[in-house]
Amino acid sequence: MEFVEQLKSSVNILNVIGEWVRLRKSGVNRYTGLCPFHSEKTPSFSVNLDKQFYYCFGCHAKGDVVNFVMEIEHVSFYEALKTLAERHGIPMPKRSQYSDEDSRLRGVIFQMHELAQETFRASLAAGVGEAARGYLAARGVAAAAAEQFGLGYADGSGRTLVRLFQQRSFPATEIEQSGLVRKRDDGTFYDYFRNRLMFPIHNESGKIIGFGGRALTAEDNPKYLNSPETPIYKKSHVLYNLHRAKEAIRKEDRVILVEGYMDAIGVAAAGFGAVVASCGTSLTSPQVLALKRHSQRIVVNFDPDAPGANAAERSINMLLDESMQVRIMELDGGLDPDEYCKQRGAAAYQGRLEGAKGYFYWLADRARARYDVHTTEGVVSVLKFLLPAVQRISDRLERMTVANDVAGYIGVDRGMVLDSFRKAVADRRESALVQPKEIVRADEKGLLNVLLSSLEGRERLIEDLAGIEILNRIPTRRIYQAVAAVHASGALPTFDAVRSRLEEPDQNLLAEVVLSAEAEGIAISLDYGRQCLERLRRSEGELRRGELKARVKEAERSGDQVEALRLYRELVQMERSGELPG
Ligand code: UTP
Ligand code: MN
Repeated sequence: MEFVEQLKSSVNILNVIGEWVRLRKSGVNRYTGLCPFHSEKTPSFSVNLDKQFYYCFGCHAKGDVVNFVMEIEHVSFYEALKTLAERHGIPMPKRSQYSDEDSRLRGVIFQMHELAQETFRASLAAGVGEAARGYLAARGVAAAAAEQFGLGYADGSGRTLVRLFQQRSFPATEIEQSGLVRKRDDGTFYDYFRNRLMFPIHNESGKIIGFGGRALTAEDNPKYLNSPETPIYKKSHVLYNLHRAKEAIRKEDRVILVEGYMDAIGVAAAGFGAVVASCGTSLTSPQVLALKRHSQRIVVNFDPDAPGANAAERSINMLLDESMQVRIMELDGGLDPDEYCKQRGAAAYQGRLEGAKGYFYWLADRARARYDVHTTEGVVSVLKFLLPAVQRISDRLERMTVANDVAGYIGVDRGMVLDSFRKAVADRRESALVQPKEIVRADEKGLLNVLLSSLEGRERLIEDLAGIEILNRIPTRRIYQAVAAVHASGALPTFDAVRSRLEEPDQNLLAEVVLSAEAEGIAISLDYGRQCLERLRRSEGELRRGELKARVKEAERSGDQVEALRLYRELVQMERSGELPG
């Protein structure tokens, strides 16, 4: 494990997570943000600098920097180590014990994609790429944009990549799994992409994981051919251009969502870098979560035709489910985003962007166009049409505002709109039962933090724990036991050491105890630890007195006066000794 420890100590978890999640400082050592692993409106995801650890109070995702990379990139332990090592210039041990078969295969497929990309780019620049270059010029794609987006050309021979991969001695089974070639019935291979303009697709960390290939003529079908799903490419998780756009998305705190590769390139080339494309598939929740890590504000700018509007309508509910703030941007003249930028210019596009409507007005417009609001049936239909979106507004005040606006907009009575909205929301609300939680006392929390964080506190206090009975009854008892066990083994009870001995629920509790102390700004000192220990001791007395009182009552009730008296004397004794100073 030496390498892992070395790696963990030389990367800062905050910098790594900060690339994926917007974090805000919320304590000396604590940062918080929206959890990248589940849907939420208010931040419950915390990163602790001191312990180099993250934890989500909502979904209980947790771990160290390696766990985070594994979860967010959907990669193996080995690949996470490799990514971190590469990015921080730390040499990876040569024949690594951490590697597994899956990771190795994925590594090889990444290599094949790199080779394919080099080949496509070279072809676009060479003689064979003349028609493709002509196509780009005709569509007004500048050389700089083609370069920036890594556009290339797959020649029509059908054997360029196959030959290259065979020359490099990649095994046939791996070539087949790359998605870049196809197998004939006789077992020989041919290139999947032929005579197409190539758009590389990257994952969020910028590695090429697939391609989209556009036909150069209208006769060639389909218009776009896309990589199939492979061990490195999962369509539903990817957004085109996100790795380039994410910085701008954060800076502007807004993302523009378009439908096509060409739209993303055209809009970005016009100076709007914060743009991503959904690549023709309908928007998925992993895609929305990926965006939400960078900004919660989205402007949907789909094609002006009916399929585009329908896709926008579908995406609204998906976006609202992840509590995104949604606006819809419409372009006039029947132009798609790429054409609009080229024909009308950046300033015009900017104007449209600023004028983008809140999704509700856009939906209401669509409803008004579809139904006659002068009839009762029409109004009912409009309200029905709007309900799915209304049900997704969790905030009551916001819902009332929307109801008010909608009523004015479609010209019906406010009360009626509000009424129908209220019913809809009541229908949807699940009776979410919250489990009662054991309450962690301030003193047990405080003492635990001192034991875990202060070397002095640990040395002075740890031996005293043994005699304190109450430590076996409080919610954090198993954590205290783990601290004692680590200490008894001769090791330092560090956060990681203690955590590794706990089961899942207690790991969560540990994270909560550490992070909430951080949030409350508790000073972790030997003195504070002593105070907590003293308070625990005292409350132990109270606990025992309480039990004794109950037993006295019990004996009286069962008529055993002798026993009752004996217990009563014990109680008096205890109360007396409790009153003595010291
Ligand atoms: P569009 O037809 O709007 O493509 O489809 P586009 O990007 O604007 O391309 P141009 O301007 O016609 O060249 C939007 C997206 O849908 C996917 C592609 O990702 C495309 O960018 N699509 C479209 C396919 O996957 N296959 C197709 O046959 C068509
Ligand atoms: Mn287009």
